[in-house]
Amino acid sequence: MSSHTPILIVGIVGSLREISYTRMAVHIALAGAAETGATTRLIDLRDYTLPFCDGSGKEAEGFPDLARLREEVAAAHGIILGTPDYHGSYSGVLKNALDLMGFKEFEGKVIGLVGVAGGALGTVNALNDLRKVGRSLHAWVVPQQAAIPQAWKHFNDAGELDNPEYEKRLNEVGREVARFASLLNAEETRRFLELWERAMPNPGGEGR
Ligand SMILES: Cc1cc2nc3c(=O)[nH]c(=O)nc-3n(C[C@H](O)[C@H](O)[C@H](O)COP(=O)(O)O)c2cc1C
Repeated sequence: MSSHTPILIVGIVGSLREISYTRMAVHIALAGAAETGATTRLIDLRDYTLPFCDGSGKEAEGFPDLARLREEVAAAHGIILGTPDYHGSYSGVLKNALDLMGFKEFEGKVIGLVGVAGGALGTVNALNDLRKVGRSLHAWVVPQQAAIPQAWKHFNDAGELDNPEYEKRLNEVGREVARFASLLNAEETRRFLELWERAMPNPGGEGR
């Protein structure tokens, strides 16, 4: 890969609701990623007929949408995970989709987190829970995140926010994911990682 690897950022919408504030939030985060020159794609789980993960590894049989989902996420350099707050955590729909995937789709990738909540407390706990999932998938979860409390109050039907601060935060999550994905995939980074792999574990420390 060269320094100019075209970066693809996908955003997964973890709500199946027809008019979903999560989808609106992911859309705004992806716009931030697009500002950096990345190609973006919204993955709306409403458009996929997925099985429940049963741990068999055979879930894709009879579910072509699962193979499609896996391919689309595997092709991405960075992933934005969007979730509604459901009982103080992230949605089961998103959890199931993540359980149907794994290292192949996520390892070494950059993840950004955005969430919406009906209540005033926001969705910080849900995003913290997702952060742990990102670690388990061996992904790099960027520190920036955006949690929109009382989403019903702040979004209009066109998906626009009444609060520029929220919009800025959502944009920033997308931008950071795209920037770090670009850095991770640059030729210079690859060369550095190769040197790192070859480096002596403790130069100058032999015999001590
Ligand atoms: C099962 C369920 C549990 C929920 N639990 C919470 C909650 O614990 N805290 C909260 O602030 N909102 C909660 N909500 C409200 C949602 O976060 C809110 O409706 C949000 O906008 C849903 O996201 P969506 O618009 O993308 O579908 C819950 C909604 C559902 C359906």
